[in-house]
This record gives sequence, structure tokens and C-alpha cells, in this order.
Amino acid sequence: MSELNIGIVGLGRLGRRHALNLRDRIRGARLVAACSPVDEELDWAAEHLPGVHRHHTLEAMLAEPDVQAVFLVTPTALHAGQIIACLHTGKHVFCEKPLALNVEDCQKVEAVATAYPQLKAMVGFVRRFDASYQDAAEKLQQGLVGQPYLLRSQTCDLNDENGFFVKFAPSSGGIFMDCSIHDIDLARWLLGSPKPLRVWATGTNALHPALADCGDVDNGVAMLEFADGKLACFYASRTQAHGHETLTEIFATAGRLTVGANPRANRVDISDVHGVRNECVQDFYQRFAEAFVSEAQHFVDAVRHDQPLALSLADATEATRIGLAITQALRSKQVVAL
Ligand code: NAI
Repeated sequence: MSELNIGIVGLGRLGRRHALNLRDRIRGARLVAACSPVDEELDWAAEHLPGVHRHHTLEAMLAEPDVQAVFLVTPTALHAGQIIACLHTGKHVFCEKPLALNVEDCQKVEAVATAYPQLKAMVGFVRRFDASYQDAAEKLQQGLVGQPYLLRSQTCDLNDENGFFVKFAPSSGGIFMDCSIHDIDLARWLLGSPKPLRVWATGTNALHPALADCGDVDNGVAMLEFADGKLACFYASRTQAHGHETLTEIFATAGRLTVGANPRANRVDISDVHGVRNECVQDFYQRFAEAFVSEAQHFVDAVRHDQPLALSLADATEATRIGLAITQALRSKQVVAL
């Protein structure tokens, strides 16, 4: 296949980033269409994506025969239906995480994807494409630190005093589905995809009590036990003072690997009357900008050269299943079996 013609759906916070990457940085990709129901977002596309066809609906975009693959960067509740629509019209599809907010929808997507084996469908678990996480995965493969038995991982966002995410919370599935879903996928990937057994979770609202109205918290912790005895502990937060901190530790029989122990923005250390310190990354995109490029490149290469994808829809379904169990544990204060 020569260049892959791509249409993007959703031009919000992350969709614009994907669009600019597809425009400028992904080899073998040609962004030919963009879709959003919001006029201002299509105006943005007219300015920043010249020559790209603009559509108000996914259906209109899918009717374009030129579009061979679709990037879905839309609200999570829409993912499953939109992936299915893309597959039924013969388009390869990349969709942002999570796959869906319930297991039934995930399974529907898997069933439809099975009916179209010639089409690629991938959910974006971006950390699998981050150079540091890939290095850690390789070191585990090589047995550098022995057998891993415990993964402790956190996704912690800078506090947003405007509370934007409070409005977004009801449609996000809650803090564990929105943030810890990445850590859940990491645990499965780095611990060798063991079968999950049970979870427990709790949380607190340190700064944003309004989250309680939708059963959510601004700080949550969860424990996951696997059938083979391996363990995972997750921490998710919306209230950090210093920046965005994604940190993962993998404890193993002959050592430990740590990814992201200091969320430094660069290699500058400041020594002054306050001591020695460094500036921190402020959001997930600053931390994972290069990984988003590698992820999109992987998808485009897999489609163009008919290569296998690094992760399956079943991986995405399993992450949703575990994330939902953790959310249920948070709300019920009970251990939930998987
Ligand atoms: P956003 O709210 O900023 O953007 C959503 C976009 O979808 C908007 O452009 C909106 O107009 C569009 N949209 C809404 N309804 C639509 C419809 N019916 N048809 C077509 N477009 C429609 O949201 P954001 O933050 O960009 O998140 C989008 C997705 O990306 C979510 O699923 C989220 O979980 C995921 N995400 C993933 C991250 C990661 O680390 N991989 C980080 C942030 C978000």
C-alpha cells in the first residue's frame, strides 16, 4: 500500500494532537478528512489542516471512499458504536482508550472485528509505545531483575483549580476507568498477562467534593490480585501540586525497575536558597508526546504492511473488565471477584 488515507474524528484536547502528528510526523500517513459536530473545531481544522475534507458526522466521513482508516478521539461512551460503524464500512480503525465503559460493548466490538479479519482495529494504550516502558519490558524479558511479582503504578494529574474534569467525570467512567486503565494495561503487559482474581479499592475527595455526586473521587487506590499470586497496586490522583506524575515500579525476585521516578521536565536542576530541584512535566501529553507518535506510526505501519498489532482488542476488553471491577469495589467498599 502507498500512503494510508486517514480521517480523524474528534478535534478536542487530544484529537488535535493526533491530527497534527498525522499531518506532520507519521511516515506513510495522509490526513484527508476530519470530523467534529462542533463548528469551531471544524474552523480549527480549516486553519490547521488545509486541504482536509471536513464533516459534521462520522457517517458523512465514512461515506468518503478515499478514507481507508479512521482515528477515533471522541468521548469514551461513543467508542464502541463508532468502531463498529468504521469496520462495517471497510475502514481500519484506531481508537483512543478505553475501548468502552462496559464489557458487553467491548465484546460486541470484538465480535464485529472478528468478522473483518482483513481490517486492523487497535485501542491506544500509549504507554506501551513509550521508550522507557519498552526498555523496562525488554529488561524483564531478558530476566535482568528476575521474576516480577508486584507492580505498583500511579497516574497522578496536576490539580486543575477550574475543576474541568468534574464536568467530564460522569462520562469518563470515573478515575480508575479514566486514569488507572493505563496502569491496569501496564500491569497485564509487564507481568505477563496473568488471570485477574480479585480487586479492592477505596478513595477520598481531597480537593473536589463535587465528584462525590457521581460516585467518583479525586484520589483513589486499588489492589489487584492475580490467580498466579502476582500483585498490582494502583494510585490515581487529580490533585497533585507539582505536575503530572506517571510512576511505575516493578518489583522482581532479583531487583526492581522504576519508570518515571522523577517527572522532570528536562535535565536542568535548580540549586538555590530552596535547595536542589527540577521543573516537572505538567500534563500527560508533555510526558508521552513521543509515545503518541510511535503509537500512531505503529498502527499506520501495521495497516500498510499488514503486520500484527502490538496489542489486541481482547487486551482492551480485559483492561475495561478490571477497571470496572475496581470502580465497583470503590463504590461498594467490597472485594470484587473477577
Ligand atoms: P474532548 O472532549 O476534548 O474531545 C472530544 C471530541 O469528540 C470533541 O472534538 C468533540 O466535538 C468530539 N465529538 C463529540 N461527539 C462526537 C460525535 N458524535 N461525533 C464525532 N465527534 C464527536 O476529549 P479528549 O480529552 O480529547 O478525549 C477524547 C478521548 O481520548 C477519550 O476517550 C479519552 O479517554 C481519551 N484520552 C486518552 C488519553 C491517553 O493518555 N491516551 C489522554 C486523554 C484522553
